[in-house]
Amino acid sequence: MKPINIGLMGVGTVGGGTATVLKRNAEEISRRAGRRIRLFMAANRDTERAREHVGPEVIVVDDAFQIVNHPEVDIVVELIGGTTIARDLVFKAIENGKHVVTANKKLIAEFGNEIFARAQEKGVIVAFEAAVAGGVPIIKALRESLAANRIEWIAGIINGTANYILTEMREKGASFADALADAQRLGYAEADPTFDVEGHDAGHKLTIMASIAFGIPMQFSKCYLEGISQLSSKDISYAEELGYRVKLLGLTRRTDDGIELRVHPTLIPEGRLIANVNGVKNAVLVNCDAAGPTLYYGAGAGALPTASAVVADIVDVTRLLAADPEHHVPLMAFQPDQLRDLPILPI
Ligand code: HSE
Repeated sequence: MKPINIGLMGVGTVGGGTATVLKRNAEEISRRAGRRIRLFMAANRDTERAREHVGPEVIVVDDAFQIVNHPEVDIVVELIGGTTIARDLVFKAIENGKHVVTANKKLIAEFGNEIFARAQEKGVIVAFEAAVAGGVPIIKALRESLAANRIEWIAGIINGTANYILTEMREKGASFADALADAQRLGYAEADPTFDVEGHDAGHKLTIMASIAFGIPMQFSKCYLEGISQLSSKDISYAEELGYRVKLLGLTRRTDDGIELRVHPTLIPEGRLIANVNGVKNAVLVNCDAAGPTLYYGAGAGALPTASAVVADIVDVTRLLAADPEHHVPLMAFQPDQLRDLPILPI
């Protein structure tokens, strides 16, 4: 059978990790997908850098539109980030009938409603596991593993950079600025780290999880955002004296009146599991009516953990194509035309 051809758009931290994982575990990945997965094309402004990550057989270009327009590409993997060129590329890919895998939380949280509607019209799959909590398989859990449940609330540590900073401040007495510089050096932080420390990145991820959990449209603009940049080491040590840890939490809850959607620093009693999630790790606690509380934990950022989620989506898309080659749907729990109109509550 013809291999599935992947077009990788963006060969930075996560793109490089994706090329590494596809190469390192090629045989296992193809076996799981039921078809050979081939990295066919890669686009990066710096083509030399891309070439360092991909094999000599891969076509390397500096213009990602060559990927979305290439007739032999089956799945485009968008790892460019942001909502300008990445958005144009994703819409063009959908127009051209390509399936899309993306790690771009901002794009999904802010433009997901339009993207999914267009994908449904065109009959292509859009998958975005890597957009939330890096290597932690929370999207699949909410969409599939918990599909029998009424989901009541979600509480998550979903920004690795903020959690790394809070951990360094507490454990080593590091200053906010030094801890942030470390997170940037380690490749965890967003290109604009204010997204991490002011809660925007967590808000994007929370918006996506709430949409899947409650079957509502993405409504990032209504998410309450408060970050950690105003916290000092003193706040953290006072909290500790009182038996609490400070964590930046994303919280969403279904009430009789609507949906709560908020990100803010939170005091958590130190004995709780989630209070002991340290460093760049993420953890998401989901409370459901049938399964009860379930907890998902792991690396929320970084090249290989995020690549793990990207490649899992490639495998999922390949399997879905084999199961039903004609009729595809975006990988959402609810289809775009079946979403509920529940209000997001003001804070
Ligand atoms: N900047 C993000 C974080 C990367 O620190 O969690 C993963 O989305």
